[in-house]
Amino acid sequence: MENVFRPRPESVTVSHRARANVRAKSSSSPARPKNGRPAPCTVVLFGITGDLAKRKLVPALFELRSSDLLPEKFAMVGVSRSAGDESALRQRLGASLDKFARTQPVDSDTWSRFADAIYGVSGSIEDDALYRDLASKLADVDAKHGTQGNFLFYFSTPPKVVPTLLEKLTEHGLLRRSHDPNATHGQSRVVVEKPFGNDLATARELNQQALELLDENQIYRIDHYLGKETVQNILVFRFANAIFEPLWNRSHIERVEITMAESIGVEGRGEFYEETGVLRDIVQNHLLQMMALVAMEAPVSFEAEEIRNMKAQALRSLRALDEESVREDVVPGQYVGYREEEGVDPKSRTATYVAMRAFIDNWRWNGVPFYLRAGKALAERKTEIAFHFRKVPFCLFDSQDRQCDVQQNILKLRIQPNEGIGLQIASKVPGDEVEVGRVRMDFGYEEAFQKPAAEAYERLLLDWMRGDPTLFARADEVELSWRWLEPVLEYWDSGASPLYFYEARSDGPAEADELLAREGHAWLPLK
Ligand code: BG6
Repeated sequence: MENVFRPRPESVTVSHRARANVRAKSSSSPARPKNGRPAPCTVVLFGITGDLAKRKLVPALFELRSSDLLPEKFAMVGVSRSAGDESALRQRLGASLDKFARTQPVDSDTWSRFADAIYGVSGSIEDDALYRDLASKLADVDAKHGTQGNFLFYFSTPPKVVPTLLEKLTEHGLLRRSHDPNATHGQSRVVVEKPFGNDLATARELNQQALELLDENQIYRIDHYLGKETVQNILVFRFANAIFEPLWNRSHIERVEITMAESIGVEGRGEFYEETGVLRDIVQNHLLQMMALVAMEAPVSFEAEEIRNMKAQALRSLRALDEESVREDVVPGQYVGYREEEGVDPKSRTATYVAMRAFIDNWRWNGVPFYLRAGKALAERKTEIAFHFRKVPFCLFDSQDRQCDVQQNILKLRIQPNEGIGLQIASKVPGDEVEVGRVRMDFGYEEAFQKPAAEAYERLLLDWMRGDPTLFARADEVELSWRWLEPVLEYWDSGASPLYFYEARSDGPAEADELLAREGHAWLPLK
């Protein structure tokens, strides 16, 4: 009872203008932009020589060009310390496409057309000369390619430089507030890569700054998990099928497990990872966004603001953590060998793994544990959401363990790999005896639709160019996630927290098993 009636503190402290923007958008939200080609635009990619641009962003833009989804009038300007040598830049990007493009081999005609619209500007983000050069490059490119003054900026940079980028781009007249979301001429939009801020205070500051310069509908806080088909399908599965939603609550679901396991380690990104760790890299964004989608109430429509309102409400209902609950319900781990990775402090206490128990205090979920775990260098690459339904109320049939456990239904949403949905049900094993066994009803995306899922970044870049923010996080969602994690970050940063080591290629530290064993539960095995 106490939980249900406990008053909740205010959710976010974005500026008045930010609130007004959010409200104005929700009350006069334009219809979701139609599918199809976006308006002409020049994409400005800060961090063009970085890993993300090379592996994901440029291949995604190229794939959109190949599928004829980019605007006819399109150009890209890459910015980095060394992007000014345009022929070298084109060559480098071409070589990385040979490795990372989704469709191989790369079609040479499509590449030539794409490459002809690639430009570069070099300089330091702190330096005004960079923005002067960029302004004159954009004027030329815009005139040459007819992109109608629509400049879309992608910040594929560490979070700490984003305030400078926003400030300098505005000062140099390259970014401007647009009050008309339907105008196609002279649009400015920015994508900010995750993590958005480094903690609650920096995320708030960044939101405040961004919302003083731009409208909420110009700010795209990217979380590439929201672009995955299987993550988008969570809402379709829940709200386009009549049979599951009545069971989607504390009366029928005993516990929920959300796992994001990676088999790779930090892969040469040691320096980056030392600053982020698993909480900032995965939990604050990917894991909590997935959790919000499975836990949220039904929106009244599929409009961006309606969905974001429901996600924010779910995040606001997360039971607040304190030092005691962090000690009891959060298990930090580090894989053996992490300290020897390049760029990593040999005495590092950065967590590469976390297992946690969370509760959502509302009518739907009160008392249902949500077990979350994420980590690197684990036994298997697997992102999965598993709903364990309550046991049958009375055991009619003998099962091996005599507890009727075998009759506990489990619904698994397999986000990746082997994308699909499986439902574990009990069935009679053929034979003279009444023996109850487990079987699985299964749906696999690839088999059902006969085509592989598009890369998340393709979908998200296209939505950004079209001006559709549905699959991006809003200011309050980001702040609510940080706010919930704040006690964990503080406790870990205080140095008082234990750190449990686990062997690479294992299921994680034994302490994570104990977290569930307390309640008589166990993680589903990774393999
Ligand atoms: C990124 C993280 O956001 O997601 C990486 O920064 C992680 O550390 C990656 O490896 C995982 O993405 P995916 O799509 O391969 O599951």
